[in-house]
Amino acid sequence: MIQSLLDFQNLNPDQIFSLINSALELKKQQSRIGRFLENRTIIGTGALLFFEPSTRTRFSFETACVRAGVAPLIMDSLAGSSLEKGESIEDTMLNLEAMRPLFFVVRCTDQTELREITEKLKTPVINAGWGKKGHPTQALLDVTTLFERWGELKNKNVLFVGDVKHSRVFSSHLELSKIMGYKLGYCAPSEFGLGEFESLTAGVKSFDQIRHALDWADAVITLRVQKERHDSISAASGEDYRHRYGLNLERAKLLKPSGVILHPGPINYGVEIEKDLLKDSRSVILQLVENGVFIREVVIKSVISGDLK
Ligand code: CP
Repeated sequence: MIQSLLDFQNLNPDQIFSLINSALELKKQQSRIGRFLENRTIIGTGALLFFEPSTRTRFSFETACVRAGVAPLIMDSLAGSSLEKGESIEDTMLNLEAMRPLFFVVRCTDQTELREITEKLKTPVINAGWGKKGHPTQALLDVTTLFERWGELKNKNVLFVGDVKHSRVFSSHLELSKIMGYKLGYCAPSEFGLGEFESLTAGVKSFDQIRHALDWADAVITLRVQKERHDSISAASGEDYRHRYGLNLERAKLLKPSGVILHPGPINYGVEIEKDLLKDSRSVILQLVENGVFIREVVIKSVISGDLK
């Protein structure tokens, strides 16, 4: 069977640790002179299809492709492709497959039937953010960064603050935390509650007050209010949200000295997090972006070699 990475369904802790350790090993090698000249042979192409906007994921997959010796072929909007003429995403991918890329990387909306399309292809597909269903490489880069800090993950408390209802990052952590044994909690306005994730959250702690949540947390992942996925204007946006849930210097004092502050980006500074916290020694927000390239290089190599089977 072709092994894609749409979610973590078929992966076990050893395989996840192998991805994490390989990414951190690549990071160590980064300082070695010539590391990026090792892959002078282009082994094939990777088709990167971004049907929703992206900065971090798109550029890190592109960078990871180059480092892995793969030429990235990029479709970064509907404009300029035959999707504009009404061709479906399925037909687009079947036609691109005929050009024999080594893999697809896809960012798309919830409405895209990515699993069904993947089953019709012989080429592996890596989920690069699928509506609010999941963003597995983001969850992997988060845990890689936490493991780098702590040297362990088991029984650590990872808190989400904010718009969990619309968060594919939260969705992927729901899966990954069960495999890797870390605990999840969330603190969110009622209208950003669990929504359709409700049935998947046995054992996930819920907090009404951010101060209690921060006291519990070993790491806090602040989330952007995802207005583009809201059906209507939310009462919890803007000033009220900042007042009740925003992470600022004062609130960050409640987090342990060994605590870690994450945000998947992009950030609405002054809403979910104050800009000053980027300078806090516990913030790993840009380290996440750096580590994202390594984990994506490892995922690409694993998908090409079939190691995820
Ligand atoms: N974290 C993340 O997925 O960012 P982008 O939307 O910029 O890719």
